[in-house]
Amino acid sequence: MTLSASEVNNLKQAPAVEGVLPVVHQRWSPRSFSDRDVAPADLAKVFEAARWAASSYNEQPWRFLVGARNSLTYKKIFDALIGFNQGWAGSAPVLILGAASTKFAHNGTDNRHALYDLGAASSYLTLQAAALGLSTHQMAGYDQDAARQAFAIPEDYALGAVIALGYQGEPAALSNEQMLAQETAPRQRKPLKDFVFSAWGSPADLG
Ligand SMILES: Cc1cc2nc3c(=O)[nH]c(=O)nc-3n(C[C@H](O)[C@H](O)[C@H](O)COP(=O)(O)O)c2cc1C
Repeated sequence: MTLSASEVNNLKQAPAVEGVLPVVHQRWSPRSFSDRDVAPADLAKVFEAARWAASSYNEQPWRFLVGARNSLTYKKIFDALIGFNQGWAGSAPVLILGAASTKFAHNGTDNRHALYDLGAASSYLTLQAAALGLSTHQMAGYDQDAARQAFAIPEDYALGAVIALGYQGEPAALSNEQMLAQETAPRQRKPLKDFVFSAWGSPADLG
């Protein structure tokens, strides 16, 4: 029997570690979204959080194209997704496409940290969404050329991820067995010793 949305949500929670922001443990990426629309005021809040991310030279190179269900913007983003992602992302009421200016505004030189900064802003966005009870699911699986063409995005902007945003839906609504299995599986992460070092490859002593 398929687990309910709330059972899955419990199973996906990372184990709480005292002192770590609860939204960090609460956020996870569903593929099933409910019909419930997102209030524009809440959408504004998730972008407000993105707005306050740090960036190299405070360039704030991120740009977000956002479309609500039934809008032309939504359709253009959806149409650029690969088939696998189209198989689930259409249940999300909001689709977002991230881009980043690769030239510094103040002197026109290359900004090698543009995508890094877009990623940081996108992470703020996902955590703010989690704090509002919203779910997000980022996707690299889309045709960048098609998206660039559909929105006439200039060449000096790099494209980041598409983000599906909305309220978590029932896992049983997923038609694909692989998606259903992933939707109902606990999340996995590497232990700190595998990526926090004091010398290359040597775990840092974190007590
Ligand atoms: C940059 C990026 C690209 C991703 N691309 C896809 C994608 O194309 N399709 C998909 O279903 N999930 C995609 N994901 C979701 C990841 O698989 C997911 O975040 C990861 O398995 C960790 O799960 P969690 O977000 O629930 O913690 C992507 C995530 C990121 C951050």
